[in-house]
Amino acid sequence: MAADLDRIKEPVGNELREFEKRFKNSMKSSVPLLDKITYYIVQKKGKQVRPILVFLCSKLCGTISDSTYVAASLIELLHTATLVHDDVVDESYERRGFFSVNALWKNKIAVLVGDFLLSKGMNIALETGNYDHLHIVSKAINQMAEGELLQIEKARRLDIDEKVYFEIIRQKTATLIAAACASGASSATPDKETVRRMWEFGEKIGIAFQIKDDLFDYGDDFIGKPRGIDIKEKKMTLPLIYSLNKAARQDKNRIINYIKNESQNEEKVAEVIRFVKASGGIEYAHEAMMRYRDESLAILATFPAGQTREALASLVHFFTDRKN
Ligand code: IPE
Ligand code: IPE
Ligand code: MG
Ligand code: MG
Repeated sequence: MAADLDRIKEPVGNELREFEKRFKNSMKSSVPLLDKITYYIVQKKGKQVRPILVFLCSKLCGTISDSTYVAASLIELLHTATLVHDDVVDESYERRGFFSVNALWKNKIAVLVGDFLLSKGMNIALETGNYDHLHIVSKAINQMAEGELLQIEKARRLDIDEKVYFEIIRQKTATLIAAACASGASSATPDKETVRRMWEFGEKIGIAFQIKDDLFDYGDDFIGKPRGIDIKEKKMTLPLIYSLNKAARQDKNRIINYIKNESQNEEKVAEVIRFVKASGGIEYAHEAMMRYRDESLAILATFPAGQTREALASLVHFFTDRKN
């Protein structure tokens, strides 16, 4: 199945165009510096997979309403805020093929811009009285912060195992994608069980999405942000965790030493990447990703068949086949 994002968007194309207008407006500020930065951010928009999920999941469970637009804006604002903050935390200077906010305006400003975007999301939900969305999304916000902090703690100690890895990516990435699916559903149906199943669906695809992101770090393709950066930041992801686990003690010690003490040395980072590739770490992570993909498709199959469900199935495939 070809996973082309334009085709996937088709069933909710009009809604997405309307969303984009509202999203742009939602970022406006009367402070010129802030307005300049948010203008820069919306110019370099991302794939918008979360708003697409909000609309498709809403349509799958009932009828798209004004509350669906609120959910989509809230989620994309929050996503944008976390990317701005994440690039500060990761000391990353490239995002969506251009300079990151911290690269152009420095950390102080990036931190405040992230806060501004987050509060804008809250404002929209509060002003329109959409407390259900706030309920779903506030859970995602605290889990994301916990996930990023757990990751930092583990990067310091370099003692991460698979179980912790999955917990980190569930918290930092999958909960927001789950929140997109669940809030889309809850804007269309009062049925709690349906919303819960949509959350579960989103959590599985969210985990697959982050494994894919972690695999990009080992690739050579242009993805609009730096590669090899996870190792530089001592971030141990699934390909590396698996490879270290099956390595002989000597190799393991050598690689851990590189990560601990020489992670800024390009040649050593390249050696870690070669080690992971030779150990089958890439294939292993790819298989894990496909398991989550298939589990999510099994949940999706319990929803009513039709064009919307087809589009969601293609979106799941896009998550694992995407090129950026
Ligand atoms: C990047 O998310 C952050 C992760 C959770 C891996 P996206 O890949 O959705 O970023 P954009 O919005 O398309 O740039
Ligand atoms: C993404 O983790 C997690 C977020 C919640 C932003 P990464 O640090 O791997 O994301 P990228 O690769 O910078 O987009
Ligand atoms: Mg990052
Ligand atoms: Mg990454």
